[in-house]
Amino acid sequence: MELISDINIINNTSDNQSVIPDTISVNSPVSKKKLYIESYGCQMNFSDSEIVSSIMQKQGFGSAATAEDADVIFINTCSIRDKAEQTVRKRLSQFNSLKEKKPEITIGVLGCMAERLKTKLLEEEKIVDLVAGPDAYRDIPNLLLEVEEGQKAVNTFLSREETYADISPVRLNSNGVTAFISIMRGCDNMCSFCVVPFTRGRERSRDPNSIVNEARDLFEKGYREVTLLGQNVDSYKWSPDAELKGKAQIEKNGTDDFINFAQLLEMVARVDPLLRIRFSTSHPKDITDEVLHTMKRYDNICKYIHLPVQSGSSEVLERMNRTYSREWYLDKIAAIRNILGEACGISSDMITGFCGETEQDHHQTLSLMDRVKYDFSYMFYYSERPGTLAAKKFADDIDLSTKKRRLQEVIARQQQHSLERNQRDLNQVHKVLIEGYSKRSRDFLQGRTSANKVVVFPKKDHKKGTYVDVMVNDCTAATLLGETV
Ligand code: SAH
Ligand code: SF4
Ligand code: F3S
Repeated sequence: MELISDINIINNTSDNQSVIPDTISVNSPVSKKKLYIESYGCQMNFSDSEIVSSIMQKQGFGSAATAEDADVIFINTCSIRDKAEQTVRKRLSQFNSLKEKKPEITIGVLGCMAERLKTKLLEEEKIVDLVAGPDAYRDIPNLLLEVEEGQKAVNTFLSREETYADISPVRLNSNGVTAFISIMRGCDNMCSFCVVPFTRGRERSRDPNSIVNEARDLFEKGYREVTLLGQNVDSYKWSPDAELKGKAQIEKNGTDDFINFAQLLEMVARVDPLLRIRFSTSHPKDITDEVLHTMKRYDNICKYIHLPVQSGSSEVLERMNRTYSREWYLDKIAAIRNILGEACGISSDMITGFCGETEQDHHQTLSLMDRVKYDFSYMFYYSERPGTLAAKKFADDIDLSTKKRRLQEVIARQQQHSLERNQRDLNQVHKVLIEGYSKRSRDFLQGRTSANKVVVFPKKDHKKGTYVDVMVNDCTAATLLGETV
């Protein structure tokens, strides 16, 4: 997943895509009950909110523009760092005063914090009426009935099969050009710092036909870019047997009768040459040359890979249980550069101050960054999560000021590299898919290059959802500036 630091107030997110609360946007007669849904965390959580909105729409719910306006408020939560949970708690206490004025309002907590805390959440946050984990969204209509009958309602069962494959998401806060498609759920890795395997359960892949159909449907509606989402997309694996008998079956069946991620990418790329494909997140231990060659073969598969390294020290990586070393990671980078060239965008996630991280380990991270020269990174300091392997096995022994100082050093290094990488694009023409107005001015549009760099240029007569060639003539560390040619 793409992540940013915890600076975001509204969607304390690990994700940079959407920073405005999402609300259901369906036309509804005034008499309908209204839902307000607010999302935090990674892109998968935002994508899940679109599934929940679809389920609620079928129940006859319309949209509320604000929480004050709603009959039901859902908050789709993230547990990845302590700060993410604190933000949700603060938000819940704001809803408290709303509930005092309007006691009939239903407040539900969804997502990873719901899963982590389960019924404890009801004890700790008295205003919460409903708790639903990431695999329980089909049950929401029943849970709402229980609430109506005056009970508190909880479902945090994790499933081995649920992929919501047949549910057509209601696109929230959409620009009409780019959309997410979930291709798998859960995670079977056990990175020692990470709470996701506990909140999202076992890994399972979604039927490729339903993925291709969703992509085609989006294309027909005018969308021009889809991002295939999963915690570890390279371990996507699907066979008809898997659907019937669970994942264990595929492993026994050998290699011939399942579809892997490279094949899925190709299937989606064939929907239309004008549909751009992105994906996130790749895991260094699983990304294959087959994926890289597939990317090379199709112009419409964007040349951009988010390949989180977390640390540049093999010892730290081992304690993190990332199952690769510094050398293995650098070999993967070399393979990307070999097959896809210098122009391919590469980004990362970094954690500073993990258990036992020495100053030398930290310098290894900085030197790895110098070797790779990432275009972009999401950077965090370590936050111990209850129940994780690291919390059980290692002392959280780096003091906060050291964690933060190292984080600042990593951020400063990344700034330099982002600027350097952007400067490489100067005086070159890039194909850009227009996503809409620039943030600052209606006289300018913005879009992205294949390598995922934001480009701003004068509007002229150009329309969103179309491709333009832009000559880049200036840049900052964050943005390219140019003129269409
Ligand atoms: N599946 C993705 C990442 C999901 S979590 C992957 O494997 O890359 C997103 C990012 O949050 C992680 O890459 C990591 O950098 C960060 N993160 C996860 N747990 C954390 C923790 N306990 N403290 C600080 N950062 C954490
Ligand atoms: Fe967490 Fe690791 Fe799974 Fe990513 S791959 S979600 S960091 S356990
Ligand atoms: Fe995503 Fe946060 Fe859950 S990053 S998977 S919403 S813990």
